[in-house]
Amino acid sequence: MESLEERENARFELQERLDDAKVQAERNRLGQFSTPPQLASDIVAYAVSLLSPRLKIRFLEPGFGTGPFYSALLRQVPPSRIEAATGYEIDRHYAESAEHLWKGTRLRLCLADFTTTEPPKAEATKYNLVVCNPPYVRHHHLSQIQKRELQRSIARYLNFEMNGLGGLYTYFMVLSQAWMAKDGVGAWLIPSEFMDVNYGHRIKEFLMKRVTLSRIHRFDPNDVQFGDALVSSAVVFFRNSPPQSNHEVEFTFGGMLARPTVSDSIRLIDLRDISKWTGLPQVISTPIRKHNGVTLADIFTVKRGLATGCNAFFILTMEQIRQFNLPKRFLKPILPSPRDLETDEINADENGEPQIQNRRYLLSCGLPENEVKEKYPVLWRYLERGIKAGIDKRYLCQHREPWYSQEERPPAPFLCTYMGRPTRRSQSPFRFILNHSKATTANVYLLLYPKPDLAASLSNHPELYRKIWKTLSTITAETLMKEGRVYGGGLHKLEPKELANVPADSVLKVFSEGKHLRIRRQMDLFA
Ligand SMILES: C[S@@+](CC[C@H](N)C(=O)[O-])C[C@H]1O[C@@H](n2cnc3c(N)ncnc32)[C@H](O)[C@@H]1O
Repeated sequence: MESLEERENARFELQERLDDAKVQAERNRLGQFSTPPQLASDIVAYAVSLLSPRLKIRFLEPGFGTGPFYSALLRQVPPSRIEAATGYEIDRHYAESAEHLWKGTRLRLCLADFTTTEPPKAEATKYNLVVCNPPYVRHHHLSQIQKRELQRSIARYLNFEMNGLGGLYTYFMVLSQAWMAKDGVGAWLIPSEFMDVNYGHRIKEFLMKRVTLSRIHRFDPNDVQFGDALVSSAVVFFRNSPPQSNHEVEFTFGGMLARPTVSDSIRLIDLRDISKWTGLPQVISTPIRKHNGVTLADIFTVKRGLATGCNAFFILTMEQIRQFNLPKRFLKPILPSPRDLETDEINADENGEPQIQNRRYLLSCGLPENEVKEKYPVLWRYLERGIKAGIDKRYLCQHREPWYSQEERPPAPFLCTYMGRPTRRSQSPFRFILNHSKATTANVYLLLYPKPDLAASLSNHPELYRKIWKTLSTITAETLMKEGRVYGGGLHKLEPKELANVPADSVLKVFSEGKHLRIRRQMDLFA
């Protein structure tokens, strides 16, 4: 008998195989986007923690796919605690394979439309744990008849009125209440747009009045942990009971579900007055103050590194380049993430290649597809892998022409890490790096480009590079942290504007002592 871990691995492989066998348009039609396994585990762990520990679990996963949540549940609770487990899946392509995969377990998988199936009537046959990543199908892809039917069902079972502009996921979530046992827990991975847009009003009413909203976690669009698959997703947890008057809702943001970077509770009565929920939780930030003295903005232009849209695809190791035999002319050196950068001074060979252990290269090509196909068939084969994985459809890629070209971000001699936590090794969450190489960076770094006066001094006095870097490194952790933002859990971030606002008197002193720099604040060419 396979272990549950092995089954999960088999499930994940099956999911990939089934996804690959479908054309994207068809997957879009049924909103087929599978939950990343780690996230599925985190969601189930949190949802189960909301149930009383001795309660037997009656589990429901509508829009089952291959059942990542069911798989996580099996790994997290003993089989004796699972009284029932039911899945609904409309697509035979997934349902049949999933049925086979989970044979021998408690699962009852129904090949049926969840939204048109009659919910159970008796309380004892309802579900106390509903976990779902519902299909994301926008309302204009639902037919009028379908919408009317959905609204009618919700009115009939729940006496609740829906707004016709919500996507299919809104109906899934609201309808699920009719399937839930009293005090049961619902966990929903859904787009976060309902938190702000007009049509979201009815969903918010549902969450504030019909159930007890426990928590909403929103992913940080800048986080790269799930690629950009979850850029605008949220996880909503609620309990099927009317809310108490003094109830407080937890809003969390960024990081992992189990370790969010910011978290705050807000009273339900106050939440009713807040129209845009994505402003929650409020980041504990210091407003940008203007210093009277010199700041880094007077000496440097500060920019964030480039956003590739999918680092795993566009940033490659030497082995990957060899494996795919990619042409050199489309590869530029790029630094690995700060975690993998073992030094703070990056030396270069005579070609400007960084002398570091974990070398990485950025794939960027501006040639149109037909030219790539004709002249660089090997590169084209690699790009096809990206197309198959849907990378060309990701937000950033879709907005580039062609999708496999990258923004221009010339290498900068000075870098600062974009975020971090104070560690035992270093009290400062940020590191300044001196870059002698021609490597550019991704958006986990800030780049400091010397403004013309400084650039001229540096070119006449190359010894200044190290002096400036040393001086930048003496800026105290406290000064940097004061400018940046701190998120719950002690994660600090510095946006380009915030770093630019850091006082730079000490850096200036390095030049003024040697009379290297004339600050031309008023006439600055870049200002
Ligand atoms: C976003 S996917 C999630 C799949 C899986 N639960 C996961 O988390 O990876 C939504 C799933 O719902 C299925 N689906 C779409 N419409 C449905 C419906 N009306 N009834 C039941 N399942 C549906 C899709 O085929 C797809 O497998």
